[in-house]
Amino acid sequence: MKIAVLGSGNVGGALGTQWARAGHAVLFASRNPNSEEMLQLIARAGANAHAMSSREAVEGADVVLLATPWGATESVIAHCGGLAEKIVLDATNPLGPGFALTHRGDDSGGEQVQRWAPQARVVKVFNTTGYGNMENPVYDGKPSLMFYAGDDSVAKDVARQLSDVAGFESIDAGPLENARLLEAWAVLWIKLAMQYGHGRDFAFVKLTR
Ligand SMILES: NC(=O)c1ccc[n+]([C@@H]2O[C@H](COP(=O)([O-])OP(=O)(O)OC[C@H]3O[C@@H](n4cnc5c(N)ncnc54)[C@H](OP(=O)(O)O)[C@@H]3O)[C@@H](O)[C@H]2O)c1
Repeated sequence: MKIAVLGSGNVGGALGTQWARAGHAVLFASRNPNSEEMLQLIARAGANAHAMSSREAVEGADVVLLATPWGATESVIAHCGGLAEKIVLDATNPLGPGFALTHRGDDSGGEQVQRWAPQARVVKVFNTTGYGNMENPVYDGKPSLMFYAGDDSVAKDVARQLSDVAGFESIDAGPLENARLLEAWAVLWIKLAMQYGHGRDFAFVKLTR
């Protein structure tokens, strides 16, 4: 796949590196594609990784990872022409002060992204755990969980494949409306990590019988 990474920071850098190393073409977008940070990221990610502007990255890609700060997300989507027809993997969390979600109950950031990009095929995914777990999701040989939610079955299949490749146990969490649940789950992970003493090196796993 050709994957544009919009927001090549903690999350975009971790996932893009995994995908580039797995053989996908990864187009890291940046406002400063020649920065020292970006050159280091490209060097870590290897020969399949390239740095460019966000518009160039989106033009060259079938899949777009959205990993921008929430406050920048609307303008980044508009700047890239609305992401029409692209499979958009939305990893953002719409957080305000105190880790409070900006959308409550009957709406979500994922649904807002779909409204900002009405012709995109949006899947909410890669938002429910910390970026350290995106670099390495495996604990004691067991993959941690990654949920994905969306309305487009082809886009969801791409989300599942890219989550599997990154090393997660990937779980279909239903329609895009369930981004509401995934964003609340993200807040739980963040509060456990940052406020309730668990740190960033923990993850959720699924046990079955
Ligand atoms: N951190 C986590 O563990 C985590 C986990 C799950 C989900 N998330 C969500 O993922 C998103 C990214 O988080 P992150 O921690 O990866 O953030 P980050 O490290 O700050 O990276 C975001 C990147 O977006 C770009 N950016 C910043 N401001 C921008 C603007 N105004 N316009 C365009 N691009 C801008 C920057 O790249 P350039 O300067 O190169 O352009 C920056 O490196 C957030 O929505 C967050 O809630 C984070």
